[in-house]
Amino acid sequence: MIKKSLFPAAGYGTRFLPATKAIPKEMLPVVDKPLIQYGVEEAIEAGINTMAIVTGRGKRAIEDHFDISYELEHQIKGTSKEHLLEDIRKLMNSCTFTYTRQKEMKGLGHAVLSGEVLIGNEPFAVVLADDLCEGDGKGVLKQMVELYKKYRCSIVAVMEVEKDSIHKYGVIDAKELEKDVFVVSNMVEKPKAKEAPSNLAIIGRYILTPDIFDILRDTKPGAGGEIQLTDALKTQAQKGMVLAYKFKGKRFDCGSVDGYVKAINYFYDKTKK
Ligand code: G1P
Repeated sequence: MIKKSLFPAAGYGTRFLPATKAIPKEMLPVVDKPLIQYGVEEAIEAGINTMAIVTGRGKRAIEDHFDISYELEHQIKGTSKEHLLEDIRKLMNSCTFTYTRQKEMKGLGHAVLSGEVLIGNEPFAVVLADDLCEGDGKGVLKQMVELYKKYRCSIVAVMEVEKDSIHKYGVIDAKELEKDVFVVSNMVEKPKAKEAPSNLAIIGRYILTPDIFDILRDTKPGAGGEIQLTDALKTQAQKGMVLAYKFKGKRFDCGSVDGYVKAINYFYDKTKK
């Protein structure tokens, strides 16, 4: 039912300079896998088979990562290292990758709209790869796809965050519909702490119905002068229905050095268990 996932991956990753001068931030490794691969694995687990990646200049390493490297395969064939490529080979065989380029950086809303050509007129998931999620039992996207089957409307993943970091997020105002599921009445992108309508912040997992594209086309630049997905979702919530879902699991903010180091430590410790 949800068959495609959009990965906005055109940003510059300035917080990680100089590491991201020549490699995309989505390719930064967490232990032995690049960030974006975790997102793709989460999407596959949710039953999604098309990864629609919105890239930009200097992002070719992402395409190469999800392609066969004949030279490398030839070199390691029959050696003790061959198994190291097994997982990524399996992953490549279980889904299709499509790409388009976002030519100008005009915000997340603009990135999603740039992906319309890859999505078409069907509901789809959005994964922000620098939010690295580990679901509790089931992946976060899988939890959201199940919820979508019940309600058939756009859904944003949310979590409670401390007041002193609420200004970094899209924040919702909402009423609880069932346990951990809320009907959104308002959303604000990057509010000041005292103006935040709640402590429920949007994290980088969305299910969107395709009418979002028309709304995005009419959405004016908002916070930071960028076209914000949050603003388009607010319009969608006020015209129809948008749900927020307090997911079960963990999320690491790998868009910041602190969160990235926490993720590495967490996933490294897991390999030792
Ligand atoms: C984006 C969204 C924001 C959301 C955040 C989650 O912001 O615009 O609503 O809360 O991702 O990571 P960014 O972190 O790209 O500034």
